[in-house]
Amino acid sequence: MTNLAIIGGTGLSRLDGMTVNRREMVKTPYGAPSCPLVYGELNGVSVVFLSRHGNKQSIPAHMVNYCANVWALHSVGVKRVLAVGVVGAINEKCNVGDIIIPDQIIDYTSDRTGSFDNEASSSARHIDFSYPYNDELRQALIQGGAQAEVPIVDHGTYGAVSGPRLETVAEIRRMERDGCSIVGMSCMPEASLARELDVDYAFCAVNVNPAAGKGDGVIDVADWSKAIESGMASAQRLLNKTLPAL
Ligand code: HPA
Repeated sequence: MTNLAIIGGTGLSRLDGMTVNRREMVKTPYGAPSCPLVYGELNGVSVVFLSRHGNKQSIPAHMVNYCANVWALHSVGVKRVLAVGVVGAINEKCNVGDIIIPDQIIDYTSDRTGSFDNEASSSARHIDFSYPYNDELRQALIQGGAQAEVPIVDHGTYGAVSGPRLETVAEIRRMERDGCSIVGMSCMPEASLARELDVDYAFCAVNVNPAAGKGDGVIDVADWSKAIESGMASAQRLLNKTLPAL
């Protein structure tokens, strides 16, 4: 039994080199997770893998059942999560292909179920979320990135948006003024739900485009596929190096 999970994002429905022992579809009080949990070993380390967008990448970020995913992992004993996802870069120092290990979040999402305590009768637990990411996991990812020789940015503020549309230039300007360095659609409420269940969480953000107004012209999503493919290859090399240290 392992207490370590990896949540894969866009372009990462499976982990190359993972030896799979079994798959399990977990039932939760919040409905079905995105797909069965995959148990196995990566680089000699036991791990549970969950593809956030489903096995066929068919569930977009705004349709993901974050409660079911996080609950499912917790219910099988997971205590630490390394999550992976794609982002756009607001900070011009972040290049396409860089992997950013954010240390803060600003949550701009709306219309997402952001807590496990949703009954009118339930007493809401006010969790501390000052530091949304677990620093031990963050440092392990940063070291893993250095060992794997992937381009790493070791801090940054993740601006979480609902999507599925991308942002306007003015929205990105506002996010920049707020202090966001990257923008993405999948870290919230995943990170705060993990905190509600005392699951340590860190995020590996793969930069696939300059955010709106930060590159030349408009954003062409068709251009992302190459950046996703090579970024996810880098993320997997980073994870391979990170796991033995955990
Ligand atoms: N905005 C929001 N989410 C994203 C982006 C972006 O520019 N790129 C990848 N995910």
